[in-house]
Amino acid sequence: MPRLVVVSNRVAVPDPTGNRAAGGLAVALREAFEAYRGLWFGWSGKVAAHPSTEPRIVDKGQVQYALMDLTSLDRQEYYNGFANRALWPIMHYRIGLSEFSRADYQGYLRVNRTFANALAQLIRPDDLVWVHDYHLIPLAAELRAAGITNLIGYFHHIPWPAPEVLGALPGSRELLRAIMDYNLVGVHTERDADNLRRGLIHDLGAIQHKPDVVEVDRQRTRIKGFPIGIDVGEFQRLAGRSQSNRIIRQTTDGLGSRKLIIGVDRLDYSKGIPERMEAFERFLGTNPDQRGRVTYLQIAPTSRSEVPEYATLGRVVNETLGRINGTLGEPGWVPIHYVTSTYQRSVLAGLYRLAAVGLITPMRDGMNLVAKEYVAAQDPADPGVLILSKFAGAAQQLKAALIVNPNDKIEVAEAIREALQMSQEERVSRWESMMSVLQAQDVSWWAATFLKELTSNKTRTASRASV
Ligand code: G6P
Repeated sequence: MPRLVVVSNRVAVPDPTGNRAAGGLAVALREAFEAYRGLWFGWSGKVAAHPSTEPRIVDKGQVQYALMDLTSLDRQEYYNGFANRALWPIMHYRIGLSEFSRADYQGYLRVNRTFANALAQLIRPDDLVWVHDYHLIPLAAELRAAGITNLIGYFHHIPWPAPEVLGALPGSRELLRAIMDYNLVGVHTERDADNLRRGLIHDLGAIQHKPDVVEVDRQRTRIKGFPIGIDVGEFQRLAGRSQSNRIIRQTTDGLGSRKLIIGVDRLDYSKGIPERMEAFERFLGTNPDQRGRVTYLQIAPTSRSEVPEYATLGRVVNETLGRINGTLGEPGWVPIHYVTSTYQRSVLAGLYRLAAVGLITPMRDGMNLVAKEYVAAQDPADPGVLILSKFAGAAQQLKAALIVNPNDKIEVAEAIREALQMSQEERVSRWESMMSVLQAQDVSWWAATFLKELTSNKTRTASRASV
């Protein structure tokens, strides 16, 4: 079996405390990756004045971790700058928030080149290379320039926008060109795959070969949807034994007979947190009998706080929260509980299980694993209801959720009422239907399917046809 080389900006070196951010990629990869022997390469998360051009190797048996430090300029230009201030908003359809700077773009290319040169020294001839996410789009082109001819796959964990949106970003044609150096490109949904193929056709004059192969300047790649899943069994187990946890007991006692609505997201403008709070405000306004009977818990770990748009969002959320709790709260009842700490997976699983409603309403999201974790954590006999944005990739699969437009506060408020009033029979039936999807397409299925496609004859034939 060939060795698997995974590359991602964040590397989840196993942490004995089990702490993790709410962001899904690192956890999904860790779960998927543990089935393979191999190497995981990426940023250490650390900044050094004079970082080594060779990675630090941490050996954990089955998986070796190869970690690169960045300079503070690298972090500023590559991570905070181009990846998170220019690309992230564009990929989430927020053209107005995208701040392009040529210096940041050069920093992004520089870090990709440094990573590729360091990684090229570690790659063996039979290795399968699997690159993850928007921080590293040019990595394959840089690896090719360093002489690497291995099969290289790329997985894009966030939405791929329509060509008209991506086209607003200076440098977008170069990014599209860099995509062509991968043998297989995975996205979460067919909509994303279609957007990327259309972008290549529209901006680079690509030719499409049926059904998923595109060709530019006689170079071919395959682009396909592979919806990422979760470890369903693990989440069920965690949720099932969470009752003894201190936080879960305190939350249960604090709730009394009140129902709980939960949202869990990184504090990111793509998640629609202020909009969701306002939809809840509207729900309380139109259903005054529900005041004091329901609590909305929003967990939103602080994220990318060096990026100005995230700091602004933090202020907007605080203001919205303060206004709603101030105007609608009562001495014995706070409508919205808001916490910005990071919780262990076992605690999150327990909170999901306590919640009658999972309120997951991003403005855009590649997949949204919280929606899936919420479903997996439910009590099969008495499950809660998932309210899910139609702009989350997960909505393409979880059709039995209450699907809403997060821009429409009236619709979201009505969905909250419907969820709280839903009969047990309907809740069970919707939950069973969602669980069957989660079980059929779990995280192991996702990784295995992508890697099978990467090594398939179809991919090899398409690559050989490149001349
Ligand atoms: C999203 C991205 C990941 C990223 C995560 C957390 O899920 O797709 O690539 O790791 O957010 O963001 P951060 O900037 O903290 O790595």
